[in-house]
Amino acid sequence: MIYMDKIVILGGKNLKGVVEISGSKNAVLPIMACALLAEGQYHLKSVPHLRDVRTMVKLLNSIGLTVQFNENEVHIESGHVAHYEAPYDLVKTMRASIYVLGPMLSRFGEAKVSLPGGCAWGPRPVNLHIQGLEQLGAKITIENGYIHAKAKRLKGARILFNMPSVGATGNLLMAAVLAKGTTVLENAAQEPEITALAEFLVQMGARIDGIGTSHLEIEGVDSLRPASTAIIPDRIEAGTFLAVGHIVGGDILIKNVIPDHVSKITEKLIEAGAEITEDSDQIHIKSNGVSKPVDIATAVFPGFPTDMQAQWMALMSTAKGSSVITENIYLDRFTHVAELQRLGADIRLDHNVALVKGVKNLNGAPVMSTDLRASASLIMAGLIAKGRTDISRVYHIDRGYEQIEAKLKNLGAEIWREKEPLVT
Ligand code: UD1
Repeated sequence: MIYMDKIVILGGKNLKGVVEISGSKNAVLPIMACALLAEGQYHLKSVPHLRDVRTMVKLLNSIGLTVQFNENEVHIESGHVAHYEAPYDLVKTMRASIYVLGPMLSRFGEAKVSLPGGCAWGPRPVNLHIQGLEQLGAKITIENGYIHAKAKRLKGARILFNMPSVGATGNLLMAAVLAKGTTVLENAAQEPEITALAEFLVQMGARIDGIGTSHLEIEGVDSLRPASTAIIPDRIEAGTFLAVGHIVGGDILIKNVIPDHVSKITEKLIEAGAEITEDSDQIHIKSNGVSKPVDIATAVFPGFPTDMQAQWMALMSTAKGSSVITENIYLDRFTHVAELQRLGADIRLDHNVALVKGVKNLNGAPVMSTDLRASASLIMAGLIAKGRTDISRVYHIDRGYEQIEAKLKNLGAEIWREKEPLVT
């Protein structure tokens, strides 16, 4: 018999206290891939203990790097590379594995990376990564489910993205730093994780102008050197705990957060009636648990993040009135709707727009976690639902939230993990 973890919550507890935010998953993954760009020792601090980070460790180890991950620190010894391949078994469990494509190709002239495939909520193409690398001179073929890229030395080019993509911007940055000549990335992603990546590359000796903007200019260099850094706080984890604070009517001090990275979320929470005060690296949220209905539409940074859409829907499910939630980044990202409905939420979905009518209360039920952020929204709903909520398949949450039950328990939630047999 195969067993899987589920999370059980007894709703209705008030949460109070301090929570420390972990390092950002989406920042550390590309930074780890940078170790493919130069030989030597890398030391990363504030690395979250997450399944995705462990997958990246396995991936780099399988390529031939020596990676150790202990106590929120990653040490990488980048030397001999065994082969230039990211196999399907690893890539299928984590799309961010595609981040090895750009640096591996740029440094070694060859890379073979499994096509990542779709997500629970729909297709997630990688055409911008491939087209961009082709513009830098790579010859790319797709065979047997693998992207096979070759280039003697990449050559700088002007690349205009038809939409800003975090992954494609990161991959092309890591490819362009060792290319010959200048690369211009137009309509590039401006997410804080891209800024953190660009700053790390500069520490390695890369020449990049326009960091933090949508126009990045990279002057290729012949070689880079290893670097070390502390990973920025996870803005989505911080945003989730802020939303938790409002939904439960709590009093929570969130530590290790960069307020500018979550400003759209705090702005919306204030509109929704929460009391928020900020310091340089902490945010205090106090709420009476009554949320006003507030519409959101997801957008690229600094807009409202798609990675907070599901949590906002949980919050709005008991708001005093109706709100409209529009998903503009991943039009099908709504697998949480049916699960929130099982808990009593009143949500009508029309393409990428959800109309949420606030109900008086939610009621505990067995629900299924379908992806990382959907799981967070179900935990939020479970925290206020009457009675017991059992959330199955929580391996999704372990991809992106470090010790979520321990952190919530510490704030006063009644939440624990149980094993349940996997029924297929
Ligand atoms: C990253 C984040 C993810 C977040 C997303 C949007 C990581 C590891 N993951 O994902 O948590 O939800 O940004 O903020 O950092 N697109 C294309 N072609 C491409 C690439 C993307 O059409 O080649 C489209 C996507 O379908 C989507 C949009 O561009 O509509 C943005 O996606 P992108 O920013 O690339 O997301 P990821 O980097 O995969």
